[in-house]
Amino acid sequence: MASKKGVALVKTKTVNEGKNGPSLFLTLTFRAERKGDPPVDFPARLWENVGSVDPGIKVGGLVMAEGQLILYNNEQQIRLTRIEPLKATEEEIGAFIPKSRLEVGAGMSRLKDFMESLEDSHLRSFGLEILQDSEVAELFPRAPAAKKNHHAMVGGLLEHTLELMAMGDAVAPILSLNRDLLLLGLFLHDIGKCWEISASPGFSYTDEGRLVGHMALGVEKCTQIAKRLKDFPERYLRLLQHFILAHHGELEYGSPLLPATPEAMAVHMLDNLSGQVFAMRQVSAGSDGWGYEKNRGAFIYKEGSDLSRLDQTPLGKGARKVFDS
Ligand SMILES: [Fe+2]
Ligand SMILES: [Fe+2]
Repeated sequence: MASKKGVALVKTKTVNEGKNGPSLFLTLTFRAERKGDPPVDFPARLWENVGSVDPGIKVGGLVMAEGQLILYNNEQQIRLTRIEPLKATEEEIGAFIPKSRLEVGAGMSRLKDFMESLEDSHLRSFGLEILQDSEVAELFPRAPAAKKNHHAMVGGLLEHTLELMAMGDAVAPILSLNRDLLLLGLFLHDIGKCWEISASPGFSYTDEGRLVGHMALGVEKCTQIAKRLKDFPERYLRLLQHFILAHHGELEYGSPLLPATPEAMAVHMLDNLSGQVFAMRQVSAGSDGWGYEKNRGAFIYKEGSDLSRLDQTPLGKGARKVFDS
């Protein structure tokens, strides 16, 4: 049986009370084996002697972990035999936190270029005003786009948003969509993530994230921005809020509304495409070239992509071209 041993970051920690006593459920982030690749998450379980585990093991801290690698529900999992907290500096912890390869300054100025390119003066002013908002300016460049599954990294929201806007720019003329509304909708769709998820180690939900959620938080920010602008049309504000509220596309995926305009449908579909492709690339493959994506319950054939090096590079060759242009 293969084993796994090494220093890891504690990303999540829960103690489950079961019939046979407590068990410890962790997500541990290990550094990638191949230099330059992003850190890799493993679920890790401790079934016995949980009471003797050091209370110093905390989310966002480093541990020395050791155990056997087993396949559970088609996914690799560590059955822990040893786990101890380690003292670490902020810099040492930082090496375990996934970061976008996108350069923040270049990414934010690309976003500003997109907003400056909007033809409608009201929508352009809105886009530029929200970029200047002190909270957005501070939080947007660092925010992760999700806790897990896709773009879960520092700067992930910016990378995900730019990816969408580049796609929206290409798609708008093909489908005769309103480019201004589409690009602004793509920028705003997940802006509430700035307040929903903390960019510090573990990417945990904030209190306001748990209580209000990223859609309502995004809608609230849009309302604030519209009030700051002179004569911002109410109808535009409602259309922008609709992008946010409908972007999950289905009621069962947490959207209170279904997309009611072609642009809102495009925001949902492009968002989904960006997330799904990212999630597929994240899957690590076994020696037969196949991996398993737990979220969709799907097997992924990693050898099937001719861009083989894309499997672990979040920006990918094609995407980087978009950002450099
Ligand atoms: Fe979302
Ligand atoms: Fe998104």
